[in-house]
Amino acid sequence: MIDEILNLVKNHEQWRGKKCLNLIPSENVMSPTVRGLLASELGHRYTARDRFYMGTKFIDEIEQYGEELAKEVFGAETADLRPLSGHIADLIFLACFTKPGDTFMCVSPEDGGYPGLWNDGLAGLLGLKVVSTPFSRENMKVDVEKTVEAVKCVKPKVLIFGASLILFPHPVKELAAVARENNAIVGFDGSHVLGLIAGKQFQDPLKEGAHALFGSTHKSFFGPQGGIILADKEHGEKMKEKIYPRFVDNAHWNRIAALTLALAEMKRFGRDYAEQVIRNAKSLAKTLHDYGFPVRCARLGFTESHQVIMDFGGYGRGKEVAGKLQEANIIVDCVIRIGTCEVTRRGMKEGEMAKVAELIKRVVLDGENPETVKKDVVKLCLEFQDIEYCFK
Ligand SMILES: Cc1ncc(COP(=O)(O)O)c(C=O)c1O
Repeated sequence: MIDEILNLVKNHEQWRGKKCLNLIPSENVMSPTVRGLLASELGHRYTARDRFYMGTKFIDEIEQYGEELAKEVFGAETADLRPLSGHIADLIFLACFTKPGDTFMCVSPEDGGYPGLWNDGLAGLLGLKVVSTPFSRENMKVDVEKTVEAVKCVKPKVLIFGASLILFPHPVKELAAVARENNAIVGFDGSHVLGLIAGKQFQDPLKEGAHALFGSTHKSFFGPQGGIILADKEHGEKMKEKIYPRFVDNAHWNRIAALTLALAEMKRFGRDYAEQVIRNAKSLAKTLHDYGFPVRCARLGFTESHQVIMDFGGYGRGKEVAGKLQEANIIVDCVIRIGTCEVTRRGMKEGEMAKVAELIKRVVLDGENPETVKKDVVKLCLEFQDIEYCFK
């Protein structure tokens, strides 16, 4: 039994960790030091806000250190590293600033918004009404003029920016003032673009007028899987008061130690990392487009984020293409969104993006046997096993 379990993990590690081109934009890789902290003694321990548990003196210091670093990296007045995931961070924000029956606005899943906010997710859980933010699917941008009108008419309690499919910055600067005038609290779900925000290469939601920025710490941000909340003093403190005991009891201190170190890496290397992630996404998008792939938003330069979106005309065909690519060890989702975070963290640059595009073309457009392409995929991956943008 033990061997079976260990072998499953080992096989996964060998395959996804070493021999796959991992292009899912929700994923990234930690540095060896950050990853090592997940296995630290901290993973056995508890703390509680009411000081029920003894033995927490170093944990308390780690928490404080992490919060200070997070405030610095994101230019926030408050930070909280306890949310166990991006989804829980969304829940904390929504639950703290709404009550059942209230309305909030965010990008619809049909336009690439996060489905977890909608009726089957948090809106349903919290008894909230959710209204779509007007959006141009063609340009993959929030429609500013229509949203101004919608905010005035709907008067949402909360307006959430950010999305799961996100190619371009969202117009926080343009819309925060009208939202505030209409008494809406403005949040930015930065789950996807948090690493680009930390690296100062995307947008700065808190400076642009959002009251809070929150989300996952493991997509374009290269920390452990988990969540984070950054906010102004007033709204941050309101959330802090309620996180324990409503949303998080034990906060998983090994994760928080790892996140703290990832924040230090982001402070030191974030700018270079985020610049390269975006350069790689643009370069990959252009080459794929030149090959004839249906890459979205060509007219707008394809992307300003870590994502490249291909439109194969529906989930069915997307799944078929993603399945073929998987046979060649090229891992994407079924939308098809391609992300450049992980390959960038492994040291790939524009030259390698040309090779990645060619490998994708050989499978999807040339119809070459995926097993043959896989050999070249593995060869490329094995050249990029070290993690960059971290303390050596
Ligand atoms: C925009 C957005 N918010 C929140 C989440 C949930 O994040 P997590 O998986 O960390 O709970 C996702 C997940 O992909 C997402 O895309």
